[in-house]
Amino acid sequence: MSRIAVVGLGPVGLVTGVAFAEEGHKVAGIDVDARRVDAVRQGRPPFFEEGLRDAVQRVLENGRLAVTQDGSEAISEADFVFLCVGTPARPNGRMDDVYLRQAAEEVASGLPSHRAVVVIVKSTVVPGTTETILKPLLEASGRPFRLAVNPEFLREGHALEDALHPDRIVLGVDGPETAKALRWLYANAACPILETDLRTAEAIKYATNAFLATKVAFANELADLCSALGVSYDDVIEGVKLDPRVNPRFLVPGVGFGGSCFPKDVKALVAAVSAAGYAPPLLEAVLRQNEVQHERALALLKEELGDLRGKRVALLGLAFKGNTDDVRESRAVPLARALLEQGAAVVGYDPRAEANFRPLVPEAELVASVEEALQGADGCILQADWPQFSVLGAEDFLTHMKTPVVVDGRRILDPDKMRGVRFRRIGSP
Ligand code: UDX
Repeated sequence: MSRIAVVGLGPVGLVTGVAFAEEGHKVAGIDVDARRVDAVRQGRPPFFEEGLRDAVQRVLENGRLAVTQDGSEAISEADFVFLCVGTPARPNGRMDDVYLRQAAEEVASGLPSHRAVVVIVKSTVVPGTTETILKPLLEASGRPFRLAVNPEFLREGHALEDALHPDRIVLGVDGPETAKALRWLYANAACPILETDLRTAEAIKYATNAFLATKVAFANELADLCSALGVSYDDVIEGVKLDPRVNPRFLVPGVGFGGSCFPKDVKALVAAVSAAGYAPPLLEAVLRQNEVQHERALALLKEELGDLRGKRVALLGLAFKGNTDDVRESRAVPLARALLEQGAAVVGYDPRAEANFRPLVPEAELVASVEEALQGADGCILQADWPQFSVLGAEDFLTHMKTPVVVDGRRILDPDKMRGVRFRRIGSP
């Protein structure tokens, strides 16, 4: 059993802390936001993540998780301190390190003088940040410490499962003692552990997300090529995936990638290397394509409906993907805004994300069920891959809609079940 302090109780920090607590460690969760701390203390995580609420309540009850606004005591007693604060994008795309600096100062003031705590950066930070920003801030305390970078690869919607059963662990360390301590902490993990230096670990996180975002962008482009060539994306990609060098996942074309990671991380990487004098053409193109990818769904809708003025359009799925209430960079936002700009009325539905979406597009009408969204609609765009949407069939659309025009922006509906529906998908002729 170790004593672990986790600074930042956002999706990454809370899930990480709860996972360590579930594994038997004693965890202190620290956050500057009093409302967040109160909510977690009462067993109510401030965001939706499958299984998290029950797990939080369990580890609060058995005393393995405590949460606090003042982290000084927890940090002074900790063996490991994880920094899990947000690193949002500035308007110019560059990473904002303000929360990281604040967290580093808090950690520095709490470090004990007689032993070296291992301080681990889990936040996604531009390569070099840990050495050039964090290290000097901690050194200013005059106390001993060790440094590591241990990026998270948590998928929202499966984050707790990913934290408890990782498929790989990357440990960027400042020396063998740190590596030894972290290998002990992760002794139960049944997955490959890669040991490297701090800067490389930071870069691995960006490279992974940049690759996956590029893969999605490639699928989106291939879908357009297939449409232009008059062939089915499904048939083409089925053949492509037979090549053992092509991993079949992350090749679903749609309205573009959103979320807290892909857009922000690719932008931060582009901005960081551009500032160093290199403009990466491929990643710049990936971002440009993603900015306008939602327009493909609009174009298909307009091919069926013509002018959108006065039309009622159901938008199914407001979160950036299914199984989450997260609307950060959700493609539902530009889609809803574009529909409204073109004179349509937008009726949105999401199983979890309604409250988060409402302030982003206040002009959209939000309703409490799929049926209500479809009622009297002239068209429907499916934007997020919620499992409950994937079972919808022709009957659901034909019963409620005025004109059954459906654009599947995530390719989760079964075309064979759409008889009688004017059904369109990105990448199909
Ligand atoms: C991602 C990474 O997968 C995770 O490892 C990292 O730590 C955080 O960022 P997440 O943001 O939760 O996770 O979502 P993910 O499932 O990766 O999807 C990102 C976006 O790409 C979503 O908008 C999704 O709809 C879209 N996507 C994904 C596609 O459009 N097509 C695909 O084939 C896959």
